Amino acid sequence: MIRESIAIIERVRRIGAGWQQVSIAVEETALANIQPGQSLLVRTHNSWEPYLRSIWVPIDADPAQNLIEIERPDSETYLPDVDIHLLGPVGIPFSLQKSTKNLLLIAQDFPPTRLRFLLNVALRSQRAVTVVLTGEAKKYPVAAFPTETEIIYSDDTQTWPSQKETLLWADQVFVVAPIPFYELYFSQLQQVALEIRHALPENYLNAVYDLPMPCGTGACMACMVSSRQYTCLDGPAFDLAKMRF
Ligand code: FES
Repeated sequence: MIRESIAIIERVRRIGAGWQQVSIAVEETALANIQPGQSLLVRTHNSWEPYLRSIWVPIDADPAQNLIEIERPDSETYLPDVDIHLLGPVGIPFSLQKSTKNLLLIAQDFPPTRLRFLLNVALRSQRAVTVVLTGEAKKYPVAAFPTETEIIYSDDTQTWPSQKETLLWADQVFVVAPIPFYELYFSQLQQVALEIRHALPENYLNAVYDLPMPCGTGACMACMVSSRQYTCLDGPAFDLAKMRF
């Protein structure tokens, strides 16, 4: 359930290549139980204007300490001990299947921030994780990833070395792509996976939409994926076995 609350910035740490990690202490343990896929809508000032919130994507959480780790561009300035106003959690947790042993995360020409929490959770539960970084995603500071992560780089934005093998190896795939091209990238990957596997099992290939979410409640329609689906209510991940482009 989405709730308003206040958190305090505990720590700010630069991780390189234009990114910083912000640790926030939240009031409620329920919020610190935020799951991969869910976001927070944040105001860092005291205005009551509901549409001036930015989307903060957790990359990890520690419910024992009531801490959530966020990744933000380092062009923004955050200081320890400052209050921030939260609305969340927004969205549905990623559906990581119990049976999944091999997880493929693809940052297609787009930073992998939205996949990092899932990466951490999967590794902590003894899954094997491969991350594919193509195009712009190659600029991401991968030193921030856990060392057991396997990373594949590609200059080509839509394909990568061992594409067929990795898609066959994976029990589940989650892919992010930039807004202007996401339909193109998602539909092409859907096609490639279909050719390789002949059928797309449910929950196998998941497109993660990174759309603006001004309200987080289904009211503004800014995050509409299809006529009846909203990123804030039904996403951010959508099963590509069910998507038509
Ligand atoms: S953020 Fe307003 S409808 Fe989803």
